[in-house]
Amino acid sequence: MGKKVLVVGSGGREHAIVKSLAKSPKVDKIFCAPGNAGIANDAECVNLKVEDVEGIINFAQRNDIDLTVIGPEAALVAGLSDAMQSCGLKVFGPTKEAAQIESSKEFAKKLMVKYNIPTAKYETFSNYGEAFDYVKKGSFPTVIKYDGLAAGKGVVVAQNFDEAEKALSDMLRDLKFGSDKVIIEEFLQGPEFSFMCFVSGDKVYPLELAQDHKRAYDGDKGPNTGGMGAYSPVPFVSPEMHDKALNDIMIPTAKALVEEGFPFCGVLYGGLILTEDGPKVIEFNARFGDPETEVVLPRLESDIYDFFNAAIDGVDFIPQWSHDAVIGVVLASKGYPGSYEKGAEIKGLEVVNGEVFHMGTELKDGKYHVAGGRVLMVTAHGDDLPAANMNVKKEITSIECPALFHRTDIGKAIL
Ligand code: AMP
Ligand code: GLY
Repeated sequence: MGKKVLVVGSGGREHAIVKSLAKSPKVDKIFCAPGNAGIANDAECVNLKVEDVEGIINFAQRNDIDLTVIGPEAALVAGLSDAMQSCGLKVFGPTKEAAQIESSKEFAKKLMVKYNIPTAKYETFSNYGEAFDYVKKGSFPTVIKYDGLAAGKGVVVAQNFDEAEKALSDMLRDLKFGSDKVIIEEFLQGPEFSFMCFVSGDKVYPLELAQDHKRAYDGDKGPNTGGMGAYSPVPFVSPEMHDKALNDIMIPTAKALVEEGFPFCGVLYGGLILTEDGPKVIEFNARFGDPETEVVLPRLESDIYDFFNAAIDGVDFIPQWSHDAVIGVVLASKGYPGSYEKGAEIKGLEVVNGEVFHMGTELKDGKYHVAGGRVLMVTAHGDDLPAANMNVKKEITSIECPALFHRTDIGKAIL
């Protein structure tokens, strides 16, 4: 019998998961809750919010869903995985407690210190005066992080005291993000890369590496965003450094979570930095990265349905990857990550040859329109990264929409 899969989420990441599942001969029906206008071409969208735990469980039970894959952290934090597991439903995504590795920076930091997992040195503060005195005595740059989910906007790399003071004042006095806890950490230097692994308790199945581009504009200028583009593979990480990241960071972290009583099942995402002393952790996420997923999953040659099930059941599985390189460029609304206008029509999508993942679009009268900050991710393959780069640049020119902008230097540093 063909399998039925439910994907939870509504972004480019979920579109990539859906497209990957659609390649599996075992899967004959894919639902996505809530999905988006582009996902609707590849799956049946179900009008349920990602935090609607009861609604999603009812849907999965009524429709005999064989597997649910959770995309966004909001669903994890709402306890969707816990609730599904207790109803006997098969789900790929960690429990709320295990997801603290992402939802609480302090939890993640304490775990890393306790288990000797390489990361930046840090201190935690909730008192403005104490934090002020601490940065006054310290050196710059220094890094100030809000201790909770802030959609990638809760991190300030302060170049001087004034910038640090402003960040502390925003976070601890004006409570810009809600609560009043910050982490101040040592500034690390080196290129960053994203190491996603399927994890099942202490079993770790590494995916191919990717690199995200978090700043809004070319040359890594401008504000931090959810991610403006990505590529895979990542040639500056040697096989030796890859194994070091796996053996000193990813595997020990999975084991530490088991040891602490929060066994993890899902994607453990290491946001790593390659320093002179080897790879170190900048952050962990408890889910697939966005936009990294859109460049990594298209390289997976194995059946992703089997891979999800192997990981959930903790059985051996060696995924096969294509040697192709993939580059993806995000088309975002002008003004993003600040305020932007919705509603402009997007033309030319039908002539793009590469895979296009929808992040924030809406279909009206048969035409796609801008409906979010990050709108589309255009990807292209090539035999190597320079070839993929040429291809993606060509594909982007097909898309006409004056309301959008994109970076022109994705992967430039390694090309
Ligand atoms: P995060 O949300 O923790 O991933 O941080 C967002 C971005 O801030 C990262 O991708 C880094 O570029 C930068 N960052 C965070 N922590 C550090 C650090 N300790 N040293 C240098 N850069 C950092
Ligand atoms: N690309 C970074 C993230 O998914 O958080």
